[in-house]
Amino acid sequence: MPPVEAILTIDDLDVHYGGSRILRDVSMDIPNGSIVAVMGRNGVGKTTLLKAIMGLVEPSKGSVCFDGDDITTISSDRRARRGLAYVPQGREIFPRLTVKENLVIGLEAREQGGSEVFAEVFELFPVLAQMQDRMGGNLSGGQQQQLAIGRALVGGPKVLMLDEPTEGIQPSIIIEIEKVLLSLKERGEFTIVLVEQYFDFARQIADYFFLMDRGSVLLQGAADELSDESIKTHLTF
Ligand SMILES: Nc1ncnc2c1ncn2[C@@H]1O[C@H](COP(=O)(O)OP(=O)(O)OP(=O)(O)O)[C@@H](O)[C@H]1O
Ligand SMILES: [Mg+2]
Repeated sequence: MPPVEAILTIDDLDVHYGGSRILRDVSMDIPNGSIVAVMGRNGVGKTTLLKAIMGLVEPSKGSVCFDGDDITTISSDRRARRGLAYVPQGREIFPRLTVKENLVIGLEAREQGGSEVFAEVFELFPVLAQMQDRMGGNLSGGQQQQLAIGRALVGGPKVLMLDEPTEGIQPSIIIEIEKVLLSLKERGEFTIVLVEQYFDFARQIADYFFLMDRGSVLLQGAADELSDESIKTHLTF
């Protein structure tokens, strides 16, 4: 890792589900302002890792430090208010609320300020502005993903965690999402942790990668150092 200050440090983390050890001694430094891709096959523990960072599952060992503070034991709501945002796999937007109402829910993560941030989200995702009165459930998968990202941004996060944002989404919207993530990165206000199995997408936008296998970090480094050999061994299936 380069000598950039870490905004997020995961140290020696274990998570168990019942008797199964799902994360094993996971340590990561996430450099401030970077885009970090967490990659690995189905079931290696990528979602569990994001949930542990967000406080949605409790680690059995290890710590999570965010922006200088140990947050290992604080609630996920408080983590959100401190600036951690999580866009879950499968998006989890509210199908019977409108686009606008879904965005309002994102405001709960804010200490202050409010609906003026909607304008920024609408600028990033114009389709959401056009559809603000539609029910979330009537949007396409790609539009729902944009809404889920928009809802996370409304909270004004410092770190945005995205769990497989390209999963099941049409290529034209993947390109739009990629553009938005790169423009957020250029503003320098965000760090993005991206869980991704779509390797080309991750390689396009990530600065660093962590490759996981069976609950552990197997490889890490600059994204352009990830060899085709490692990809073949650990990502194709
Ligand atoms: N709530 C749960 N209870 C018990 N086991 C679980 C639970 N959630 C996940 N697991 C198991 O933990 C392991 C890691 O799951 P996780 O969802 O973190 O993997 P993943 O890398 O995100 O996979 P995918 O690429 O399919 O999303 C898997 O073996 C999974 O079956
Ligand atoms: Mg997952």
